[in-house]
Amino acid sequence: MTDSRQSIHGEWGSRWAFIMAATGSAVGLGNIWRFPYVVGENGGGAFILIYLACILLIGIPVMMAEILLGRLGRQSPINTLRTLPAEHGARGGWQILGWLGVIAGFLVLSFYSVVAGWSLAYVPFMATGTFTGAETAQVEAFFNDLLQDPWQLLLWHTVFMGLTALIVLRGVQNGLERAVRLLMPLLFLLLLVMVGYGMGAGAFLDAMAFMFTPDFSALGAEAVLIAMGQAFFSLSLGLGAIMAYGSYLSSRSSIPSNSGLIAASDTIIALLAGLAVFPIVLAAGLDPGSGPGLIFVTLSYGFGQMPLGALFGTLFFLLMSFAALTSAISLMEPATAYLVENRGWQRPRAAAIVATAAWLLGIGSLLAFNLWSGFTILGLNFQELVEYFSTSIMLPLGGLLMALFAGWVLPRSVTGQELALSSPGLYRAWLVLVRYLVPAAILIVFANSAGLIG
Ligand code: TRP
Repeated sequence: MTDSRQSIHGEWGSRWAFIMAATGSAVGLGNIWRFPYVVGENGGGAFILIYLACILLIGIPVMMAEILLGRLGRQSPINTLRTLPAEHGARGGWQILGWLGVIAGFLVLSFYSVVAGWSLAYVPFMATGTFTGAETAQVEAFFNDLLQDPWQLLLWHTVFMGLTALIVLRGVQNGLERAVRLLMPLLFLLLLVMVGYGMGAGAFLDAMAFMFTPDFSALGAEAVLIAMGQAFFSLSLGLGAIMAYGSYLSSRSSIPSNSGLIAASDTIIALLAGLAVFPIVLAAGLDPGSGPGLIFVTLSYGFGQMPLGALFGTLFFLLMSFAALTSAISLMEPATAYLVENRGWQRPRAAAIVATAAWLLGIGSLLAFNLWSGFTILGLNFQELVEYFSTSIMLPLGGLLMALFAGWVLPRSVTGQELALSSPGLYRAWLVLVRYLVPAAILIVFANSAGLIG
């Protein structure tokens, strides 16, 4: 029975606490910063269609599997993936998947903190009216200047990582739950304000056409891999963050309905971010494929043009930084929980060590925008390499292994009881997805992309 085991780290106060924490993890830079820019780089509508298919057919079933594994194991991902195979008579070696996730967590957190630092940097810029009435060229130049200044990037990277560590070391529940409950809806409202601005002042219909008219000829060869990676990234899947959160979930809470709710909110926020960004991009003649700077340039320009823009802009970057914070803490959770369990360390010490390691790695990413911009492998600089390898390769690989584990190693009696789906047909559909479709889809996408490179 699932109730027989308890997590030494405690349990969420309620079902809503879990949903808030998991949604806080899912909604972050992935939705607001990364989604618009990868959509822009990969041609719009067709990419979004593939992305949505990935969320539905791969993301949701994998999320159910990941939460289920966490709740069954009730330990850090590494230990859960040691205990569960032993209990179900499987061979060892699955804990490598736990380690893979811990490493991916470091990689993602390292560049995540750098980008979240840009968002923090934009708060005072906005507040002092830097962009009020500015031309697009000025806004672009401003962003490029920021990237050219390693000390400033280091400052904000350090502030962000420090804040993340501070929250993790104080324990996730104190205060954070309440803050998420208030600030996430506020972020949602602000996005609506931006979409409203785009409707009035931007090229809204062009943006709708760009986002929702699939033009498969605009789809690059690697786009499917990138869409799949983005689905994993945005839903926080494949590295054990959601597994760790699942290990603190009450056994009475419904995994399928929680997963659906989290995925739906995450997807709506990403689409809204697109609807906020692209009307401005297209109206101002900016390039949708300009890469990671996209929202910093377009939204700053948009805020600079609209009434009360300095106020809305300040709020926006503040809220985005906060959304990034609630995501970053989940990236630290697998490693932190492991150190607490296996080394007997106190949480503060574990969190401080994890944050320091990711901070050091992040310095490589921030230098990739200036001093190290000349160093590239396969045409990618250090930051792009870390982002590509972790997001497009490690997360889907992690998801693939979790699906296989939940589908093939765990007995149906156990997974069936954990998921407690209302109809046997739904359970069978999930089983077919995690056993066959998800692994096959991920392998096919991998194989295709490997063919492109090799
Ligand atoms: N989902 C977050 C975002 O969209 C990023 C993130 C947090 C993440 N935790 C994760 C990505 C775990 C992958 C795995 O910004």
